[in-house]
Parts: sequence; C-alpha cells; structure tokens
Amino acid sequence: MNFKTLRGMQDILPDDIIIWQFIEQQAKDIFEIYNFQEIRTPILEMAELFLRSIGEDTDIVEKEMYIFDDKKGRKVALRPEGTASVVRAYIEHSLFNLPSPRKFYYIGPMFRYERPQKGRFRQFHQIGVEVFGVKSPSVEAELLYILKNFFEKLKINRLAFEINSIGCKECRQEYKEKLFSFLNDKISFLCNDCQRRFNKNPLRLLDCKVPTCRETLKDTPLILDYLCEECKAHFENFKEELSFLGIEFVINPKIVRGLDYYTKTVFEVTTTMLGAQNAVAAGGRYDDLVEMFGGPSTPAAGFAIGMERLVELCKQTISIGHKRQLVYVSYAGKGIEGEARKLSNILRGKGINTETAYEELSLKAQLKRADKIGANWVIIVGEEEMKRNKYIWKNMKDSTQGEGSLEDIITLLENSR
Ligand code: HAM
Repeated sequence: MNFKTLRGMQDILPDDIIIWQFIEQQAKDIFEIYNFQEIRTPILEMAELFLRSIGEDTDIVEKEMYIFDDKKGRKVALRPEGTASVVRAYIEHSLFNLPSPRKFYYIGPMFRYERPQKGRFRQFHQIGVEVFGVKSPSVEAELLYILKNFFEKLKINRLAFEINSIGCKECRQEYKEKLFSFLNDKISFLCNDCQRRFNKNPLRLLDCKVPTCRETLKDTPLILDYLCEECKAHFENFKEELSFLGIEFVINPKIVRGLDYYTKTVFEVTTTMLGAQNAVAAGGRYDDLVEMFGGPSTPAAGFAIGMERLVELCKQTISIGHKRQLVYVSYAGKGIEGEARKLSNILRGKGINTETAYEELSLKAQLKRADKIGANWVIIVGEEEMKRNKYIWKNMKDSTQGEGSLEDIITLLENSR
C-alpha cells in the first residue's frame, strides 16, 4: 500500500510549522489587543447551515461543499468557511445577551472541493474575525486597520485594499432589475455558468473571470450608482473613516463576493506577490444573517485571511529564527545510559531544550547524532567524572570543552540561551 494525501490537501511539516506558529501568534497578539476573544467551533456542521447562509446559487454550495449523510441519514458538511458557524454559536449560546460589541477570532481548517492550483487547496486554513452588534462603518474601517497593521508586522506591503458596497435587500433589488434589463439581449454572449445564474443570482456575473463575459459586462450599470440613502451614507462614512485612519483604498465596484450573506460593505485585500490566487484576505458586513438564523436583529462584520497564501508571502518577506538552542546529553561507559536520561530530565525541568540517546550507542555515534540534529551543546556523562560529581560539556559551534558540576552546567546553558 502506498498512501498519499488526498488531492488538494497537504501536510504541514515542522520546517514550515515554525512560520505557521509565528503567524498565528502575531495574529492572536494583535486580535487580543483589539479585545477579540478566541472561539472554536466544530469542523462538521449541519449542511443546511451553509446552504442557507452562503446561498444555494454560489460556487461554494453548488460545487465545492464536502457534504454527506451521517449514520442517521442527516446531511452534514465540512465547514467551507467560519462565519456561519460563529453566527450559529452566537445564537445557540445567547451570546447576544452579553454587552456588545462581541468580538471573536478563530484559526482553523476549512474545506472546499475546488480545482487545486497554486494558492488554492481543498483543505486550507483561515484566520478570521467576526464583530457583532455595531451598525457603524467604523467597524469595517477598524477591520481593515487591523489587517493593515497585521500585514505590516509581517512586512507584507505590496497590497491593495479593494472596497465596494453591495447595498441592502431593497436597493440591491432595484439594481438587479437594472442589471436584468441591461443584460437581457446579451445572454447568448455569456458563459454557461453565467447564463444559468442570470435569473437566480445575477450579481455573481460581475466577477466572472471568463473574457467574453468581462467584455459583455464592460459597461454594465454599477451598484454604487443605485444605493439607497442609508447604504450610500454608510459607504461615504466608511471611506471617510478609512482616510481618517490613513488607509489607502481602491474602490472596485465589481467586487460582489462569493457568499450571499453580505450587506453594504464588502472588501478584498489583494497582492501582486502571489500570482493568480491574489486575494489574501476578504470580508464585509452581514447585517441580516443573525436574524435569518433566528437570533435578534444584529449588525455584524468580519474578515478571513487565507493562511496558506499568507505563509507563502511571509516566506518572501521575513526569515524566522530557528528554534531554541538544543542540548544533547550523551554518555560514555557501560550501564550509565540511565544517568544520561536522568540528567536530560533535570535540564528539561529547567526549561532547557534537551535530546538524548534512547538506545545503546557508542560515544562516537552519539556525538555524530548530536551534530546531525543541530545540537548547540553536548553534555557527556562519564564514569570517571560521575565519581567527582562532574560532567563534560562541549560547545558544538566553537569546539570548546570543559568540565563542571550540575550547577555549573545549568548556569552555562542558561546563560547561553
Ligand atoms: P472568502 O473570500 O471565501 O471569505 O475566503 C477568505 C480567504 O480565504 C480568501 O481571501 C483566501 O485568501 C482564502 N481562501 C479561500 N478559499 C481558499 C482555497 N480554496 N485555498 C486557499 N485559500 C483559500 C470567507 O470565507 C468569509 N467567511 C470571510 C468573512 C468573515 N466575511 C465575514 N467574516
């Protein structure tokens, strides 16, 4: 048998994990400064949760969900994103009873059965945040400010903050009608997907990547020209707030997002450092979703960052120092292996990163192994030295060597950390 990971899924090996952990820690630090709290929701949920929130006519629901029947015949799905689950948890645990705003963050795997390519996977990870209870666009502006700060910390700067408004139920309906009449005599020029979507979800046509569709939609009416007074004011305030915070943005009236729950603000953070899959983060406002799921009417907004894309960027911008120094405890002589393991545990108890031999090896073989695993120090437990309560130490970098008591060795190692 020759088992391999499934297509579109990948192992994250220790060399890369260093970057993942670094990014995750930076994210946690920044979110907690902004008073976000971590939330962890199950990876498996009722499929209906996603069908209803993301929308039946979206790519995710139509083609990309990992959906199956459980043993009782209930339709369940691997989560394709985090927002719907956080909204479910917010309602299920009546978190709306606590003072608002409620601010959550999450880090974890998501699943979409997409065609894998560079930067696009079937299991991928998101770092996301959701804020409940604030109507004002200062929330979306703060979300972009957090993203900007976070990316700056990671030295990622070739970014564009693209924003748009897709209005509310009312003004979007009026816009859809305009779009219908504009496209009515052009349907035959559209790709199959767009033709199929035309009646059900015409907004999705706007971000179709097929060249003939792009050409056909070149002079399409834009939603920004059809916003109602409230949505227009919200968008204006949002832009003012961004300028006030010193965030440069680009208005991209074609951003509609691949999920149906958004209202008013939508945004994407794109970069020129990644190739085709250039969206490194995305989000927006979703004021109707909590109520739609049976909770009290609650305004909300959030974003999610694509972790794999971020890791790719970080590999280009920062070098993350390797782990802490490593000490290898070896022994010279018969029957004293146990003493080496005992010493290892004493050092570990002092918080010193220590490795040792677990089986019988010659001293030469142990030193070779210490060198191979990149040990900075070797401590040798020797029969003769033990009688005098001493150990030999060896610095693997400068090849110096000496002898000392347990206290001397601990002081030496602690001072060189
Ligand atoms: P999304 O745009 O579907 O939004 O995903 C957010 C980010 O996840 C994308 O910008 C991208 O970086 C990453 N991503 C998405 N699909 C893949 C994939 N197949 N492989 C690798 N990376 C991927 C959401 O998921 C919303 N829940 C965001 C949100 C939170 N809106 C409000 N709150």
